[in-house]
Amino acid sequence: MLRLDGKVALMTGLGQTTEEGWGIGAAIAMKLAQQGAVIFGGNRTLASAERTKTRIEGAGGVCDIQKTDVTNSASVKALVDNCIRRHGRIDILVNNVGKSEPGCPADMSEEVWDQQVDLNLKSVYLTCHFVLPIMEKQETGGSVINVSSIAGLRYIGKPQIAYSATKAAILQFAKTTAVIYAPKNVRLNTVVPGLIHTPYTQALAKRYAPDGNVGEYMKMRDAQVPMGRMGDAWDVANTAIFLASDEARYITAQEIVVDGGITSSTGRT
Ligand SMILES: NC(=O)c1ccc[n+]([C@@H]2O[C@H](COP(=O)([O-])OP(=O)(O)OC[C@H]3O[C@@H](n4cnc5c(N)ncnc54)[C@H](OP(=O)(O)O)[C@@H]3O)[C@@H](O)[C@H]2O)c1
Repeated sequence: MLRLDGKVALMTGLGQTTEEGWGIGAAIAMKLAQQGAVIFGGNRTLASAERTKTRIEGAGGVCDIQKTDVTNSASVKALVDNCIRRHGRIDILVNNVGKSEPGCPADMSEEVWDQQVDLNLKSVYLTCHFVLPIMEKQETGGSVINVSSIAGLRYIGKPQIAYSATKAAILQFAKTTAVIYAPKNVRLNTVVPGLIHTPYTQALAKRYAPDGNVGEYMKMRDAQVPMGRMGDAWDVANTAIFLASDEARYITAQEIVVDGGITSSTGRT
């Protein structure tokens, strides 16, 4: 089940920024490799991408990396061109890069707004701009998986309007593009993670925890979820590899919410 042998997966944001733990991008790359795909990954910092590459190769997988800025057209084109030079095809595209900056319209600067739109949304357009023409020419088509957030579905307790707006836009970008590309055998779907415990969220907790009490802050986040715990990067990665696989061949223009039930709850009384 869910084997991806012989498939080529192009990924953005596969870097692992810390020695310990797993970020979402690194976990998706590892899972794809474990299922037999070869990975070609772009990341802003090469050292983070090297960490993921070492982990994948240590587990017997294949992973090439390239320094990439997903907000820059020439940089994304170079990533795609080099993947084609190396492997001759792209079967899976995973758009993982994304980051939240706090703020509401009155206090967010125009510069931060533009950066958020470029990082979270334009990046998805850019990879699709270069990769979809390749996928549609392939007899076996292709599968695109985007990583959104429940912040694109709901207000989740803190003002992050640019992040919320761009993560919502990804959903509609994928839906409309999926309809256009359905006859061409190219599927587009989106994973929508909820509260996920990653090295990045651990670092954020240090910033936001009242009195610096990270343990209490994490307990509070766990308690917000009907399942009583945050998810981890593997919960997201398992969903991504399902959507990438041939077992999901009739699924397109959809999103799968991976959130332990939180978006279906109005909270506890
Ligand atoms: N963590 C959560 O709780 C959560 C919840 C919902 C949704 N998500 C979404 O899940 C995705 C992954 O989140 P994560 O927490 O796992 O992130 P992460 O560990 O920080 O990984 C993101 C990677 O993207 C890279 N990157 C950042 N800007 C880039 C750029 N301009 N060009 C190329 N690469 C760039 C980073 O590179 P560096 O090594 O240079 O930092 C990093 O390796 C994001 O889309 C996020 O919005 C996360």
